[in-house]
Amino acid sequence: MARNKVTVVGAGNVGATCAQWIASRELADVVLIDILEGAAKGKALDLTQAAPVYKYDVRIVGGSDYAATTDSDVVVITAGVPRKKDPVTGQFPSRDDLVKTNQKIVGDVARQVAQYSPNAVLIIVSNPLDAMCHVALEESGFPPERVIGQAGALDTARYKAFIAEELGVSIKDVHGIVLGGHGDEMVPLPRHTSIAGIPVRELMSEDKLQAIIARTRKGGGEIVGLIGVSAWYAPAAGAAEMVEAVLHDQKRVIPSAVLLNGEYGYNGLFVGVPAVLGAKGVEKIIVMELDDDEKAMLEKSASAVRSVVDVLGYQKA
Ligand code: NAI
Ligand code: 2OP
Repeated sequence: MARNKVTVVGAGNVGATCAQWIASRELADVVLIDILEGAAKGKALDLTQAAPVYKYDVRIVGGSDYAATTDSDVVVITAGVPRKKDPVTGQFPSRDDLVKTNQKIVGDVARQVAQYSPNAVLIIVSNPLDAMCHVALEESGFPPERVIGQAGALDTARYKAFIAEELGVSIKDVHGIVLGGHGDEMVPLPRHTSIAGIPVRELMSEDKLQAIIARTRKGGGEIVGLIGVSAWYAPAAGAAEMVEAVLHDQKRVIPSAVLLNGEYGYNGLFVGVPAVLGAKGVEKIIVMELDDDEKAMLEKSASAVRSVVDVLGYQKA
């Protein structure tokens, strides 16, 4: 049986690390694509040379030519530019300028991917995440079930890591979920958080829980503050988790940015909600019962997403 093939577009911090997770777990052969051809080729070569040590038996190639990506099963899109100071003016670009720049990059990537891998499932990582899912959907022409945004896997992982650390328990026993857009208004759900089935509020004070929720919401910024650029290990791990769910048809329930069509009261908007991920991509959107406070928080987060999506200038559904 032929091995699966995964393309990762963007061979920067997140893309190269995602390729590493995928290869080291022997999920698929990997094609690393970047406009910086040498970087993509060199990182693929470096990963290939680590294979005899870690004994992963997959082929990893890199470059700029999409012909190598032909008939990929899954394509992870991490291409984009980060928010950084203009070296001449010393100014940060406006949010809208950054959205437009990444719209052009992700749009161009999505069109090429669709041409070479018309049946692939797309996993979007580029920021601003929820808006870039709209770009990928629009420009690939793919059905919505094959365009999925990675945010909830990361945000939930951060939330669980903080809880496990605070309680001194294994991360394996922490269950929880974070909904909403990938921004400061995301919605961690303590009512649905447990440790081996024990509600988190029985084990942790409300003050500590609220501090963890606040830290989760600012989780991306905390890393930028420490390193100077955004995170890559956990974001890449989140994307690889989704790749595995699709390739192995696992029917995993992973909070993901998916196009809502009436669910949770939203139409034509990508929002992070629990989704069943399998071979077809998004196989089911799970609609949870939310209380009034949770609904209000989700609305605040969805409004923040909508205000960025409006910048893209696509016609509204
Ligand atoms: P990076 O700057 O290390 O890598 C981005 C790569 O994209 C660069 O190598 C660049 O050459 C490449 N690129 C730019 N235009 C391209 C094009 N047209 N075609 C192919 N490649 C192109 O950035 P990093 O840290 O890897 O982050 C990538 C993206 O992921 C950013 O937008 C970042 O904000 C986002 N991100 C999203 C997260 C999430 O949870 N959704 C978490 C962390 C990062
Ligand atoms: C993160 O959450 C910045 O999206 C990036 O780390």
